[in-house]
Amino acid sequence: MKAASKALLDENFKAGFSIMRELPTGKLVSKEPFGFIDGISQPRIDWSQVQSTDNHDHDHYSNWTALGEIVLGYLNEYGLYTPRPLIDPAHDPAAENLPDAEDLPALKDFARNGSYLVMRQLRQDVEGFWRHIDELAGSNASLREQLAARMVGRKRDGTPLAPRSPHRIPGINSDDAINNFSYDLDRDGVRCPIGAHVRRSNPRTGDYPPDVNGFWSRMLRLLGFCQQRDDEDLVASTRFHRLMRRGRGYGPILSPTQALKPDAEQAERGLQFICLAGNISRQFEFVQNAWNMRSKFAGLENERDPVIGVREPLSDGTSTNHFRSVEASGVTREYRQLPEFVNVLGGGYFFMPGIAALRYLASAKTPED
Ligand code: HEM
Repeated sequence: MKAASKALLDENFKAGFSIMRELPTGKLVSKEPFGFIDGISQPRIDWSQVQSTDNHDHDHYSNWTALGEIVLGYLNEYGLYTPRPLIDPAHDPAAENLPDAEDLPALKDFARNGSYLVMRQLRQDVEGFWRHIDELAGSNASLREQLAARMVGRKRDGTPLAPRSPHRIPGINSDDAINNFSYDLDRDGVRCPIGAHVRRSNPRTGDYPPDVNGFWSRMLRLLGFCQQRDDEDLVASTRFHRLMRRGRGYGPILSPTQALKPDAEQAERGLQFICLAGNISRQFEFVQNAWNMRSKFAGLENERDPVIGVREPLSDGTSTNHFRSVEASGVTREYRQLPEFVNVLGGGYFFMPGIAALRYLASAKTPED
């Protein structure tokens, strides 16, 4: 690039952007900034590739995920290879050392053992979150904790609100009781609200509703002979939409008790949300758009994720800042005008190459070579 045009570019760039050499981050702790244990539910990767990806074996929720859902170059939950960059070695001899593509062995798999990484810098209004919930709870500490837990779907120590499953869910380790649950026994959201953050983020659905068991009941359902609940078939099967997550807080920690004090320390704080996925649009974007942010979800209307949702009204002016929670008595409580607690400050999509791809990139000749 000519020196004059580079100088012009630099000048214009400076007017809009500043270069940040390092993104400050907090210590890697198990709690996210609102004070809840995070990162405890992860899909279990089928490294040995022994789990079936056949539709007929997935009526119910399982925590197993096909290797190709997270690591590129292997079969995914459709029993297919997720689209990825492949190289024809006839056109690029340097690609010779890359592994062969399993599905197209004449081509080299640049992406094998790599993954896509999503990063989001999410500002959290910790004070605003706890103060708003405190107000709704009439400053009753126990009610405050209960309401916060209902918005997340877990208590602050990670205990799920949904009832534990009476049998072990496939892919959940025997010592992982905190994750051995689905929403099959709580279909009306009495224990865990349907709109709670963890329920929206992973509704723990199978390919069929929970009461479908075996061939005939599946066939009857397919042919439309069964009586259906209103909310059925509205939530996609979870197995195509799993994420491996690793959040990391930034900014000074403010406990819920400190957040409620009038002199709570004002600071920029939040979460650096990171997840890995083989297909960003089918996994991360789907979870975010179809489940967390959609104002219609599993029979709910006019509400989005109570924790991370944006509160913008719909284009026709309908408000979306509500949160409904069904109480044990069957009465539905509706909280209105929830403020926005989380804002997206920035982020990016990245490709994380495997070691062979890194070597290939490192050996690439530059025009000066
Ligand atoms: C500041 C923003 C966020 C906060 C405070 C937050 C908080 C939490 C907490 C406390 C849990 C429960 C712990 C666990 O199950 O591991 C959780 C689970 C989860 N979150 Fe978030 N989260 C945030 C953003 C997001 C985003 C942007 C996504 C994806 C679009 C997401 C997806 C998930 C998923 C998939 C789970 C696991 C649900 C399950 O498997 O049961 N979260 N989150």
